[in-house]
Amino acid sequence: MNVRRSWILIIICLLSTVMLGRLGAEGSGSAVAQSTESTDKAAGVWRDGKAVFSDEPMLDIFNPYQRGYKPEQPIPFSHKLHVEKNKMECQYCHSGVAKSPYATIPPVELCMGCHAHVRTESPYIQKLAEHYEQKKPLEWEPVHNLPEHAVFNHERHVKAGVGCNKCHGQVNEMEVVEKVSSLRMGWCVSCHRMNGASIDCSTCHY
Ligand code: HEC
Ligand code: HEC
Ligand code: HEC
Ligand code: HEC
Ligand code: HEC
Repeated sequence: MNVRRSWILIIICLLSTVMLGRLGAEGSGSAVAQSTESTDKAAGVWRDGKAVFSDEPMLDIFNPYQRGYKPEQPIPFSHKLHVEKNKMECQYCHSGVAKSPYATIPPVELCMGCHAHVRTESPYIQKLAEHYEQKKPLEWEPVHNLPEHAVFNHERHVKAGVGCNKCHGQVNEMEVVEKVSSLRMGWCVSCHRMNGASIDCSTCHY
């Protein structure tokens, strides 16, 4: 019964994805007609000014790491509490973000700079302190990860003035970090097109 239901659901989803895809193609078609500039940019493998690879939310049903993905973490770390309430800068913790491809997750030592004396009565902080004493890193569950064949670089985006929230949403308001962008190729390429950044295959694939 359940198996049958989910098949019906999948078929409905497939049908509506196809329909939405058509609507999208029509919409961008008329936009291209109005502007010769975007027609030029549409030359090559990109069709009608839109990436060939779709970024439809419905395609998420095939993706285990879909938008809204928020894995359970070893310690419930709240960005809202640290960033909003305690006014901490993103780069204080994610110190690689403006100078390397990786934003990096801060080590336990950085947390203990405060938590050696802040909220020490909390069981979570006691777990943190245990890791610190045993020199054992916390195994944070990744929220975002691209397949290995795609290259991403934080430094380039941060230096070009693309804000964290453009890709990660309002992390400052999240109790638990969740994935808000698909990270699909269509998503990357649409923003590159809009901002005149490179859409050569070799920009993102070696
Ligand atoms: C006090 C340190 C601290 C500050 C300040 C901080 N973060 Fe984080 N951030 C973490 C830790 C620890 C994790 C890993 C645990 C988690 O995912 O919740 C993390 C995870 C993340 C992730 C998910 C990483 C992944 O696994 O894919 C994003 C995105 C992120 N932070 C963005 C931000 C942004 C944007 C800001 C500023 C608004 C910010 N962080 C401020 C400590 C911090
Ligand atoms: C600059 C100081 C500072 C740093 C660095 C810091 N925190 Fe905090 N953290 C605080 C403060 C202050 C609170 C209490 C906030 C409140 O209750 O208003 C807090 C609260 C917490 C709590 C909630 C504790 C509870 O049970 O109420 C957790 C969990 C936590 N922090 C984890 C971390 C982790 C993990 C890191 C490192 C990635 C970290 N903190 C880095 C200042 C800091
Ligand atoms: C142009 C989009 C974009 C912007 C802007 C961006 N990120 Fe990311 N971020 C990503 C992508 C894509 C990944 C996954 C990278 C991977 O898996 O290789 C990621 C991963 C992360 C991670 C976890 C893995 C790592 O790189 O260490 C953290 C933490 C993070 N971002 C924080 C930030 C912060 C803080 C900012 C702002 C200063 C920011 N990001 C700006 C797209 C972006
Ligand atoms: C919100 C807009 C936006 C999104 C989303 C975005 N980018 Fe970018 N990206 C830019 C801009 C703007 C630049 C140009 C930076 C510059 O000129 O230095 C850039 C530059 C780059 C570069 C360096 C280009 C070069 O010439 O060497 C790479 C690599 C890159 N992006 C990969 C990605 C990947 C992979 C994704 C998706 C996972 C992505 N970007 C998503 C805006 C974006
Ligand atoms: C701005 C960055 C960017 C550019 C430019 C780009 N790609 Fe991608 N591509 C990605 C990302 C990120 C992924 C992984 C996410 C996904 O599968 O959608 C990907 C995935 C792919 C995949 C695997 C698709 C799948 O479903 O597994 C192929 C094939 C591919 N790209 C080919 C190309 C070709 C050919 C070009 C040039 C015409 C190109 N890409 C240009 C970012 C880019």
